[in-house]
Amino acid sequence: MEKELSVAIVGGTGNLGTALALRLAAPGVRVIIGSRDRQKAKTVVESLGKSLWQGKIEGETNQEAVKEADVVVVAVPYEGHATMVADLKGQLSGKTVIDTVVPLNKGKPFTPPAGSALLEAQEILGAEAPVVGALHNISALDLNEPDAPLGDVLICGNSDAAKQQVMEILRRIGARCFDAGPAANAYVVEGLTGVLIHLNRKYKSKHASIRITGIGEKSR
Ligand SMILES: NC(=O)c1ccc[n+]([C@@H]2O[C@H](COP(=O)([O-])OP(=O)(O)OC[C@H]3O[C@@H](n4cnc5c(N)ncnc54)[C@H](OP(=O)(O)O)[C@@H]3O)[C@@H](O)[C@H]2O)c1
Repeated sequence: MEKELSVAIVGGTGNLGTALALRLAAPGVRVIIGSRDRQKAKTVVESLGKSLWQGKIEGETNQEAVKEADVVVVAVPYEGHATMVADLKGQLSGKTVIDTVVPLNKGKPFTPPAGSALLEAQEILGAEAPVVGALHNISALDLNEPDAPLGDVLICGNSDAAKQQVMEILRRIGARCFDAGPAANAYVVEGLTGVLIHLNRKYKSKHASIRITGIGEKSR
């Protein structure tokens, strides 16, 4: 029998983490949400119970959550990103890391010294684990609604195998994914979220997202 896939979400008690946990649990992925505070993780898992339409979610410290997982999603604000990835270094060996982090300052995007959040994480982890950027342009609000259509997901990273694995996981939550190139491209995808935030403000929406056209389903 095929082993059940386990996904840990570091910072999983937040907006993106809780919404992603609900989406992943529904098709049968084992989800462990992580927190800096074990009790907070447990409390959040309990509160998610009423919205959990299918599957099971567990709560742990970030460190414990990562130990249990095959794939680790990093979903903390940019301010805590580098420290968190560095703290988890050594425990991420052999796992795929999905970095969702958008470098924002008061809602405005900026380019961090490494070039992007993804490159920062990959620089910290080195050869220990491949980092794949994903979900930057998806709103937690839409993820939180089981039937809400999702925008397209642009996937960046230097490992083709890890990108493939991430695309397979995200297809299970109904996302259309595109390989958007190497880690060097991530600054564009991360920065695009700043544009989506602007569009939401300008046009009084909460659901701005992106859609790729001109690529046939068969070629993906
Ligand atoms: N929200 C969205 O729609 C969305 C969409 C795409 C991408 N993103 C990206 O996803 C990441 C998470 O977004 P979010 O809206 O879920 O953020 P959030 O709710 O503000 O924070 C997520 C979790 O991160 C932990 N955290 C907060 N500050 C931290 C720090 N300094 N160091 C380590 N952990 C910290 C907290 O968990 P504990 O207190 O339990 O540890 C918090 O619940 C961000 O980088 C964001 O750019 C968000």
